[in-house]
Amino acid sequence: MKHCNLSIVDWVYKTFPDGEQYLRLLSDVEGKKIVVAQSLYPNQDSKVVELYLALEALQALNASTPVVVIPYMAYARQDKRFLKGEPISVKAVYEPLKLFNVKKLVVVDMHSQSISNLISVDIANILPHAYMIKSAGVKIDFVLSPDKGALHRAENVAKTINVGFNYLDKFRDRVTGEIRVDLRELDVKNSNVAIVDDIISTGGTVAKACQILYNLGANKVYAVVTHALLSEKSLETLSKAGLTMLITSNSITHTIQLPQWVLVTDLSELICEEVRKIM
Ligand code: R5P
Repeated sequence: MKHCNLSIVDWVYKTFPDGEQYLRLLSDVEGKKIVVAQSLYPNQDSKVVELYLALEALQALNASTPVVVIPYMAYARQDKRFLKGEPISVKAVYEPLKLFNVKKLVVVDMHSQSISNLISVDIANILPHAYMIKSAGVKIDFVLSPDKGALHRAENVAKTINVGFNYLDKFRDRVTGEIRVDLRELDVKNSNVAIVDDIISTGGTVAKACQILYNLGANKVYAVVTHALLSEKSLETLSKAGLTMLITSNSITHTIQLPQWVLVTDLSELICEEVRKIM
């Protein structure tokens, strides 16, 4: 929050031997408006609990928390009951924010637009891809969404940088988790293409799209993906697919050493701009 010119609340934190978390706020916050910022990865479960502990402590100290900034919104991919008996995880995790009178949630590249209808807190969603491409200084001729449902993301970038865009048909088996990407006609010969998505986890989605693009004659393939969760072997998968560069962001803290072909863009300025509009 120092980039937003806000002072930081002092607090202490520890975990008990059984793994439970403890925190205590030390600053005088009575009557103040506090922006709570917490990215929910890694580890999403403990980060969610930590966020709620902080909100409860602030409420007890008579501080208000109208704005919560969540650069990476965990549990957002389960935004539907895909199979009977499943929870809508995003609703279960974020709806309780209203208990703490949170008025606005500032998030970066929320998984789907429908989430706004599932949570009663108002959401400001920052789409950072065009900013990330500009920061990387690469020339992109065409933008591709690896999934029709996420086309709004590719469209937003393509219109900002004034190039064409299209999508692939991706299907995920809801039981095994396996993905299939169907071939479509795409005019990408000799082009530098940006695959635009919200999350890389196993790298499977981007790798499949990358292979299809090279088979269609693309020159360079960039992945412009906001949240690089990078589970085990994902970097190997992306490298084997011949990805030219992964342009990602600091929406989460990366705990592994990243290779030179991964560029992490700082989004602080974009987030602070949004916070300033609200506060
Ligand atoms: C899914 O709907 C998301 O938007 C991403 O495409 C997905 O999470 C990527 O996962 P992976 O890297 O494991 O293919």
